[in-house]
Amino acid sequence: MDVTAVSGDISTTEADVVAVNLFEGVTRPGGATGAVDRALDGAISRLIELGDIRGKAGERTIIHTFGKLAAPRVLVAGLGKPAEFDVRAVRNLSAEIARACRRPGVTHVATIAHGAGVGGLDPDECARAVAEGAILGAYRFLRYKAAPDEDDRAELERLTIVERDAGRVAGMAEAARRGAVLAEATNLARDLANEPANALSPTELAARAEAVARAGGLEFEAMEREEMERRGMGALLSVARGSAQPPKLVRMGYKGRGGEGYDLALVGKGITFDTGGISIKPAAGMEAMKADMTGAASVIAAMQAIAALRPKADILAIAPCTENMPGGNASRPGDVVAAMNGVTIEILNTDAEGRLVLADGLCYARELGARHLVDVATLTGAIGIALGEQCYGLMTNDDALARRVEAAAEAAGERSWRLPMFKEYGDQIKSSVGEIKNTGGRPAGSITAAKFLERFVDKTPWVHLDIAGVDMAAKDNGWVTKGASGQGVRALVNLALAFGEE
Ligand code: BES
Ligand code: MN
Ligand code: ZN
Repeated sequence: MDVTAVSGDISTTEADVVAVNLFEGVTRPGGATGAVDRALDGAISRLIELGDIRGKAGERTIIHTFGKLAAPRVLVAGLGKPAEFDVRAVRNLSAEIARACRRPGVTHVATIAHGAGVGGLDPDECARAVAEGAILGAYRFLRYKAAPDEDDRAELERLTIVERDAGRVAGMAEAARRGAVLAEATNLARDLANEPANALSPTELAARAEAVARAGGLEFEAMEREEMERRGMGALLSVARGSAQPPKLVRMGYKGRGGEGYDLALVGKGITFDTGGISIKPAAGMEAMKADMTGAASVIAAMQAIAALRPKADILAIAPCTENMPGGNASRPGDVVAAMNGVTIEILNTDAEGRLVLADGLCYARELGARHLVDVATLTGAIGIALGEQCYGLMTNDDALARRVEAAAEAAGERSWRLPMFKEYGDQIKSSVGEIKNTGGRPAGSITAAKFLERFVDKTPWVHLDIAGVDMAAKDNGWVTKGASGQGVRALVNLALAFGEE
């Protein structure tokens, strides 16, 4: 979708739909809605009087203009109460508008930077949220739909944000452009996570990452098994053993400062399918494990946006990619392996494979000179039990970095929530055979997984994001669409941009 901001009068703008808004309780529409109302000879005011338009959140009214406007349709979207309206709501509203406008005959929507007028919010932030919301909200994964029906085929091609104040437009256009870059990257992560595992092997995932790197002028490497062996990545290799597909360790590098090492490394779990291995998962719902590479998809997609937005920082992405299969050569419960840093791990449950591949991924990122680490992973079912779908879990060894990640998530309209990392939790993963074991039992399962990862970051400031509760959505809701949600991608990009502001 093409998103632009232009100066002009929305009541004379040519488009298939003109989308304006109304706060709850307003009887005389002002601003852009007022201009459209006047062009319609007071039709909106009249509908308010009739009680058909009330401005409630989620309310959407389509009015046909029959030649009174250049556009054949006006959409009035309810904003709810002004006090509850913020940039997060703008993004979600824009997503809902994009979906409401997905109908045959509609390819171009003209709208406004909702919230910037009567709402009193920052115009640039609103423009960015409108762009993000529209592109994110219109997303669907149709690749394998053989014969989509007419509604399925309808696509929005263009969204124009119309601003009355010509002095504001340049800033808003730039903000919208950045929002579009962030949203397109998120949709790339969604595409990767929605792909079935037979189409997206570790080899294919690495190939997709390479295409991103090539297009963005990034450093790229897809490390093969032999090199992993040379480097002693025994934890990652132990997961790959049971699969006929070769593992790949993806590395992408962006040098915006051109210094030594990297200011920040993003490390993503790339299990292209998680059967559980010998500790095999139950059949029901196992198909969701095609998305167990969402962390890898998120860091690859984040690099696409970073390459486009060019922050003054050096950013590294690492994605250890493999299937977790129960083949004849698979790791067994009780096996002991050593990670790249020499820490010996007793594998008690082969389904706790994410922490194994991340162990070597984190070590490798440090070896390449990462000064801050953020890993993102669909790591534990327990995080969904603890936090549900409303936020992802954040665990850390560094308060300052945690605050920066929280701010980056907040700016993306995402929610993170911090879990404690008391040292006593580490007792749960002490092994009598090796140094640590790969499960700490059911209590505090997400935290003990993070305590495991902590053994591989040494003293480097590190944040772990467990996105297993939010990676897949059952239905469309605001900017989140059904299937792979894309949560985390824009937070990672915002963080990289913040590193560029230092
Ligand atoms: N990929 C799963 C976690 C997961 C669960 C992601 C549900 C998305 C939705 C992970 O590899 C896993 O199997 N974790 C185990 C760990 C346990 C064996 C210690 C789990 O959460 O049950
Ligand atoms: Mn697993
Ligand atoms: Zn997994």
